[in-house]
Amino acid sequence: MCGIVGYTGPREAYPVILKGLKRLEYRGYDSSGVAILNDHLSVYKKKGRVSELEESVVGINMHGHTGIGHTRWATHGEPSDRNAHPHYSASGNIAMIHNGIIENYTLIKKELQNKGYEFKSDTDTEVLLNFIEEIKKENNNTLEEALRIALKRVVGAYCILLIEKDNPGTILAARKGSPLVIGIGKGEHFLASDASPIIEYTKEVVYVNDYEIAIVKPDELILKNLGNEKQTPFIQKLDMELAAIEKGGYEHFMLKEIHEQPQTIFDCLRGRLIGSSATITMSGVDNNMDTFMNASRIVMVACGTSWHAGLLAEYMFEELCRIPVEVEYASEFRYRNPVINKGDVIIAISQSGETADTLVALENAKEKGAFIFGVVNAVGSSIARLSHAGAYSHAGPEIGVASTKAFTGQLAVLAMMALKIGYKKGTIDETRYKTLVRELEAIPEKVKEILADTSNIQRIAEKYKDAKDFLYLGRGYNFPVALEGALKLKEISYIHAEGYPAAEMKHGPIALVDENLPVVFVATKDRYYDKIVSNVQEIKARRGKVIAVATEGDTIIPGMADDVMYVPDADEVLAPLLSVIPMQLLSYYVGVSKGIDVDKPRNLAKSVTVE
Ligand code: F6R
Repeated sequence: MCGIVGYTGPREAYPVILKGLKRLEYRGYDSSGVAILNDHLSVYKKKGRVSELEESVVGINMHGHTGIGHTRWATHGEPSDRNAHPHYSASGNIAMIHNGIIENYTLIKKELQNKGYEFKSDTDTEVLLNFIEEIKKENNNTLEEALRIALKRVVGAYCILLIEKDNPGTILAARKGSPLVIGIGKGEHFLASDASPIIEYTKEVVYVNDYEIAIVKPDELILKNLGNEKQTPFIQKLDMELAAIEKGGYEHFMLKEIHEQPQTIFDCLRGRLIGSSATITMSGVDNNMDTFMNASRIVMVACGTSWHAGLLAEYMFEELCRIPVEVEYASEFRYRNPVINKGDVIIAISQSGETADTLVALENAKEKGAFIFGVVNAVGSSIARLSHAGAYSHAGPEIGVASTKAFTGQLAVLAMMALKIGYKKGTIDETRYKTLVRELEAIPEKVKEILADTSNIQRIAEKYKDAKDFLYLGRGYNFPVALEGALKLKEISYIHAEGYPAAEMKHGPIALVDENLPVVFVATKDRYYDKIVSNVQEIKARRGKVIAVATEGDTIIPGMADDVMYVPDADEVLAPLLSVIPMQLLSYYVGVSKGIDVDKPRNLAKSVTVE
């Protein structure tokens, strides 16, 4: 949530920052702004998309070699020019951008108001900035000293960048809870919320840690902790190509990412799973096999789509490993004072690796002695670094706000883990293990088959796009898929949709069914097939419109449904990797046909770094 970019070096800062903001726009698009430092310190900002900022500065001289930029997902104060970042300090000498939330800002604001400060915006950011400036003034501190003192009093999450009129070429940065990457060029430095604005210029990066302050000049990077002790920057090489963050001819990132899934699932399996020898190698699991085998329980902690992956993992781990599993919304888990014992294994699932609730839930569990295993997509992210061990989902950068390829990547990782642990434990026999390993290896090709022709799904989307509500139903492994289908539709078409276990509909939701309600059944061939056939009949008897995801070759479900989306046959444990694909496409095409910007749906942001 909120994207931040900074540059200092020999280039013109504005074009670098503008391009970076466009790459980070998925993190928030309520407003954007830049501050450029030359002889003056100038701030330009605008409500709306980055393109609107770009238009608003046409004709203005944006010259300067140091600058910072921000794209906002509003927390404090409505989206407006006034609340857009960067903010000036009261003196006009400092400009600052911020990603995060300062929780004790009202208290600090009061203190400052008592001292005569007036505020031009409703933001917590402007409060923090003036707090820093006040400390600087009070004791004749440098900005760096004032920043350090201020941050010790701040409660909340932040990644902030500051530039100061009298300090040319220097950007001060600090983080706690919100991400910050610094790219190291030759005589230049790039700062950003993630690596996407940086990879074009350099592959050498430093991930700044919580409670660190960075003093960044063109040819110098100093990291210090809040105790003013120097820290050695740990330089890492980025394993990412520019093409991975471009649309590559697709109309939307979401469509590109849906179509990438045969490759991303393949990449996730590559080097880990070998069908011919029925081996699965995952160092994070291998090195901690005893911990997994002796786990008294596993707790999956995640949010949103990643939580749905956790729910599917519950079915997989309980069935294949016979380990009790709980699936927790991170936001509830962190505040509920949950019982966590030493033998507990926490599996954290996150695409971004930066989701604030998941991060803090893990910090709490780690403190209580739990073993944390991260299933994360973004390499080097906070959750990946906080985990004791982990396995990346290797889906590559996911830019569309609605998660697609990251979800199937998570499922592939979790399936490999469950198979590996279950086989080692002896809770799955060799024949079934080998069958599932071979089936998993075949998934990328089957996804390719589904994606080869999407015209039927486009037709169905067009037919139902004006519906006011949708119901999604499934049983067993297909129940989390139904939840995920409903979430996808809500997010990018703004149509109300609910997912339910199919049998549960009789306990309430069936009251909604009439001839206007499309009901999507995830009805692939599995052990519940006969039961789901009955559920379809119950909906048809009440004149509901049935859209079914069915297994190729099935004749019963297609005979009853109004519309059918087919997927190839697969074992029920792995079928969700296939049945979710029509769900993603249906939502995508409904969203597009309603004229919605599916990559940037209203009110959402990709990386939820505020709780
Ligand atoms: C839905 C979606 C969100 C995320 C959720 C967790 O399409 O993208 O629900 O799944 O915000 O994010 P991560 O996985 O980054 O922790």
